[in-house]
Amino acid sequence: MTGSSAPALSSAITAVGLSKSYGDKVVLDGIDLHIPEGTVFALLGPNGAGKTTTVQILSTLVRADAGEARIAGHDLVHDADAVRAAIGVTGQFSAVDNLLTAEENLMLMADLHHLNRREGRRRTAELLRRFDLTEVSAKPVVTFSGGMRRKLDLAMTLVGNPRVIFLDEPTTGLDPRSRRTMWEIIRELVAHDGVTIFLTTQYLDEADQLADRIAVLDHGTLVAEGTAEELKRRIPGGHLRVRFADPDRLDAATALFGAVTRDTESLTLQIPSDGSIPTLRAVLDVLDSASIAAESLTMHTPDLDDVFLTLTGRPRSGDAATSPKENAR
Ligand SMILES: Nc1ncnc2c1ncn2[C@@H]1O[C@H](COP(=O)(O)OP(=O)(O)O)[C@@H](O)[C@H]1O
Ligand SMILES: [Mg+2]
Repeated sequence: MTGSSAPALSSAITAVGLSKSYGDKVVLDGIDLHIPEGTVFALLGPNGAGKTTTVQILSTLVRADAGEARIAGHDLVHDADAVRAAIGVTGQFSAVDNLLTAEENLMLMADLHHLNRREGRRRTAELLRRFDLTEVSAKPVVTFSGGMRRKLDLAMTLVGNPRVIFLDEPTTGLDPRSRRTMWEIIRELVAHDGVTIFLTTQYLDEADQLADRIAVLDHGTLVAEGTAEELKRRIPGGHLRVRFADPDRLDAATALFGAVTRDTESLTLQIPSDGSIPTLRAVLDVLDSASIAAESLTMHTPDLDDVFLTLTGRPRSGDAATSPKENAR
């Protein structure tokens, strides 16, 4: 390859003006999307923002009131069957049948995709292996943990070799370890199979970990779109909170750090920070060289609340959902 300009990526999903109302409630109010093939796109928003509705529309389960979309090159409405053949969807609530074994669930999926018996067995065995479920393949799913169930759910979507995969809140309700496993699996899907992933999440850190591009959905419109870096640059939420034993120390530290937020009542300073080790060390060094002892230091990384406060000027709507906090990377 000698050309200097990279070829434009083809588009896995494009949408223009998608709208949907239920009764007089406007759920989506004109959504535009452009998602290149082989990338991960995260739709970030609180409960009730319209994430599942967007997934349902793009996966042909629900008809939009207005707007157009193409998925894997097919028109959503006129080529709905071709769209269905090209996509996989794992819902917010698992489609796995609890009374069947993992293997039976996968075989059932193979049947639905018209694989013959032999091909179905081969694909089932391959997916069980890949998702580390071989040992439990003969156990009824009712005995599975949440993490195992999600893995099986995803394995079932892969039976049909989809080019575009929709993951609706893939880690909501999972413990931190299963959450990380799911992240690994999602990364692998993109790296290994070259699929395009459209995921929804309520967690900024999840979008940050996985997505090439993030769009923030609020009250049926996209209020921001960009890379994680671009979004975070707009969000001043990251800071260190340093607490002191008495007002004198607080005063001395305030003088050192200049324009920082100070809370006299709780004897704390909030110092803007990206949470990196060097900036953390720099703060400690400044305190140390002035011989000011700090009582405690906590780190606050930007989360969905900060995103919404910044982008919309008000706290986010919807239920409170806090991310499983693990700041260690
Ligand atoms: N079938 C439906 N009938 C009526 N209202 C619905 C229906 N589906 C979703 N809604 C409403 O649309 C809004 C967005 O829902 P949803 O897309 O599920 O949001 P999210 O997935 O972001 O939590 C909510 O207010 C919800 O109550
Ligand atoms: Mg939802």
